[in-house]
Amino acid sequence: MTETTIQEKARLVAGASTWKTVASGSDLPALLLADGPHGLRSQGAEGDSLGIGDSLPAVCFPPAVALGSTWNPELIERVGAALGDEAARLGVQVLLGPGMNIKRSPLGGRNFEYFSEDPRLTGELATALVRGIQSRGVAATPKHFAANNQETDRMRVDVTVSRRALREIYLSAFERVVREAKPWALMSAYNRVNGVFASENRWLLDEVLREQWGFDGLVMSDWGAVDDPAAAVAAGLDLEMPPSGRHDRIVSAVTGGRLDESALDTAIERLRVLAQRTAAPRPLGTVEDAEQVALEAAGEAITLLKNDGVLPLEDGSVRLLVVGEFARTPRFQGGGSSRVRPTAVTNVLDSLRRMSGGDVAFCPGFSLSGEVDEALADAAVEAARDADVVLAFLGLPDHAESEGFDRAGLTLPADQLALLRRLGESGARVVVVLSNGGVVDVASWRDDVDAIVEGWLLGQAGGTAMAEVLLGRVSPSGRLAESIPLRLEDTPSHLTFPGRDGQVLYGEDVYVGYRGYDTRAVEVAYPFGFGLSYTSFAYEGLEIEPMGPNSWSVSMRLRNAGVRAGGEVVQLYVAADSSAVDRPVHELRGFRKVFLEPGESRTVSWELEPRDFAFWNARFERWQVAPGEYRIEVGASSRDIRLVGTVHSAGDGVRDPLRLDSTLGEWSAHPVSAPLLAQMRAAMPAGAAEAAPELLEMVRSTPVIKLTTWGIGVTEETVRDVVARANADPEGDEPR
Ligand code: BGC
Repeated sequence: MTETTIQEKARLVAGASTWKTVASGSDLPALLLADGPHGLRSQGAEGDSLGIGDSLPAVCFPPAVALGSTWNPELIERVGAALGDEAARLGVQVLLGPGMNIKRSPLGGRNFEYFSEDPRLTGELATALVRGIQSRGVAATPKHFAANNQETDRMRVDVTVSRRALREIYLSAFERVVREAKPWALMSAYNRVNGVFASENRWLLDEVLREQWGFDGLVMSDWGAVDDPAAAVAAGLDLEMPPSGRHDRIVSAVTGGRLDESALDTAIERLRVLAQRTAAPRPLGTVEDAEQVALEAAGEAITLLKNDGVLPLEDGSVRLLVVGEFARTPRFQGGGSSRVRPTAVTNVLDSLRRMSGGDVAFCPGFSLSGEVDEALADAAVEAARDADVVLAFLGLPDHAESEGFDRAGLTLPADQLALLRRLGESGARVVVVLSNGGVVDVASWRDDVDAIVEGWLLGQAGGTAMAEVLLGRVSPSGRLAESIPLRLEDTPSHLTFPGRDGQVLYGEDVYVGYRGYDTRAVEVAYPFGFGLSYTSFAYEGLEIEPMGPNSWSVSMRLRNAGVRAGGEVVQLYVAADSSAVDRPVHELRGFRKVFLEPGESRTVSWELEPRDFAFWNARFERWQVAPGEYRIEVGASSRDIRLVGTVHSAGDGVRDPLRLDSTLGEWSAHPVSAPLLAQMRAAMPAGAAEAAPELLEMVRSTPVIKLTTWGIGVTEETVRDVVARANADPEGDEPR
C-alpha cells in the first residue's frame, strides 16, 4: 500500500465539512448529517463552518425533558418517525440524536436534552425514538457515549466512576438501545471516562459497544471531541467530526507502525455500510402530520404537580388573569446545538383566548431580559385584584440554562418569585405554570399556590397543548422522569457535582436520583414517577406467575375510578430484599402508559427477565442474580406503591471462579476448596481454633495466596492446584 492511498483513507475517516462526510468512488456518497434530537437543525449541505447560522425551518418537537415525562414509547416512536420524515424531506441521512445521558444532577445544563435520571426509562424511550427515525431510512445517532453528565469542563473532564455504576446506570440505557433498536450510528462523548477520552477509549468503543453488545454501526466523535486522531481510529472511532485536518497524524501512525492499516479499512467499511443503509430516506408523513405529533407529545408531557381543585378551568364565569411573559413569548426549547427554527409556534395566551372564546386579561409581570422591572410587577398585582384565578407563567429564561454550562442553583429568578409572593396576597387563586428544561425548586413556594403545572419545554405546539390541559380538554398524563428535591443539598451527587480541577468523581455510585433518595429515605418535593390527573385510578389484582429461571410474568388490573377520561403511568419496581450486595431499595423495571374512559379497566402486564433482578458484579465483570427474596412493587410513583408481591430466586447458579487472591472466606464457601481449608484447620494445634475464634474471623478476608508466607505449610503450588481444580469444575457440586 502506497503512502498516497493511506493519505486517501485517512481523509475518509474525518468529515468533509461541518455536516458532511467525504465522498469516494461510486459506492461512497457524501452523507449529510444534522442535529438534532427534537427537530432538524439543518443548514443544508452549504452550512457555515461553525453551524451557528440559521437553519432551515423544521418542526420543533418537545425536547427530551418533555418526551421523558410522557413515559410513552409508542408516542415517542411516532415522534421518531416524524423526525425521520423531516430528515428525509431535507435530504439528511444521519440525524444526531437522541441525546440519552442520565441526569446525574438537576443542575446539568443540558438536562433538557436528556430523558431521565433512570436508565430503564431512558433506554426504552430512546429505543422507541431510534426505531421511529430509522423506519424512514434515516440513521439515528444516540449520544453522547458515555458518562457525559455535565457541561462544566465538558471537553476535558475526567469522569471517575465505578465499573458497577457505569454498567447499571450510565451504560445500561445505551446497551438497551443498541441491542433493541440497532442504531446505525453512535456519537462518542467529549469527556474522559476513567482516564481515557471517550473518543479514544477502546474499552468503551470496541470491547463493550461492539464485542459485548453487538453494535454494528458507525461511531462518530462529538464535534471536536477527538484529541489524538490516530488513537481514536485505533480505539474504534470511525469518523472524526468536524474534520480537524490532522489526517497526517494518522498517516504517520500507520507508516510508523503504531496504527494498523486494517483499522482504517474497518472504519471506511463502516462508513460504506452507513451509506448503504441510508441510501434511500423516504418520508411517509407530511409536515402537517409532524406538527400534529408534536402537539400530542406536548400534551402528554404536561405534568400536574399540585391541584387543590382549581383545575381544570371549565367554568366560563371565572375571571381569569394570565401573568408572565412566558405566556406570550414561550420558552419551548433549550439553547445550543439542538436549537430548531420552528415552522410555527403557538403561545398559550393566544390559545387560551381562542379556545375559551372570551377575553383573557394579560400582564407580562416581568421581563425575560434579566432586568428587574417593578412597573410590570405592579401592574400585574393590580390586575390580580379583579381576578378570580391568576395563571402565573413562570420559568427559567434562556440565559439561565443551555448546552455549554451547568446551572448554579435550582431557584427561579428572584423577580419572578417576588411577583409570585405578591400575587398570592391578592386574594385570587393562583395556578403556577412552569417552563424549564431542568427541575426548579418548588418546595419554597408550593404551599402558597393552588396548583402547579410543570410544562417543561414543550416544543412549538406547547401553547395549544397547555391551553387544552388548563381548560380540561385533555387530562394531564405526564409523570416525573426525575425527582424534584426539597433542597439542592439533598441531591445524591451534591458533594461531587461538577467536580474540580478537571476531575469529577461519581461518588454516589449507583445511587442516582430516586435510587439515592429512596434508599436514604430522604424526603423529596415530588418523587420520581409522580404526576396528578383530573381523574383517579384503582390498582387491583396483582398476579405473579413463574415463567422460567429468574423470570416471572406480572399482571394487574388498572381501573379508571373517576368521572373523566385520563392516562395513568403504571410503574413496576423490583426490590432485592436480602442481598449480600448493597443495592438501591428498588429499581424501575417496567412501566406502561394506559388511557382509560371513566369506569373502564384494563389488564397491564410485564415479563420480568433475569437481568431485571441482576446487579453488576465488578470483580468478575458480569451480571449476577443473587439468591433471595425479591419484592415486586407496582405503583404510581417510586413513593406510591399500590400493590406488592414477592418472588424467591435461587440465584443464577453461576459461581464466581476462584483466583489466587480469593480470600479464605471465599475458599470456605466453595465446594472444591472448602474441604482443603477444613484439612488445614484440622492441622492446627489442638484447641487453637476454639481458643481464638476472632483469629479465624480476622483471617477470613486474607487472600489465600498470602498464606504461603505464613510458614504453615501452604505452598503456591497447592494454591494453584486448588484454583485450577475449582475452576475446571464450574458446577462446583462435588470436589473431584
Ligand atoms: C454537541 C452535540 C451536537 C454537535 C453538533 C456538539 O457540541 O455536543 O450534541 O450533535 O455539537 O452540533
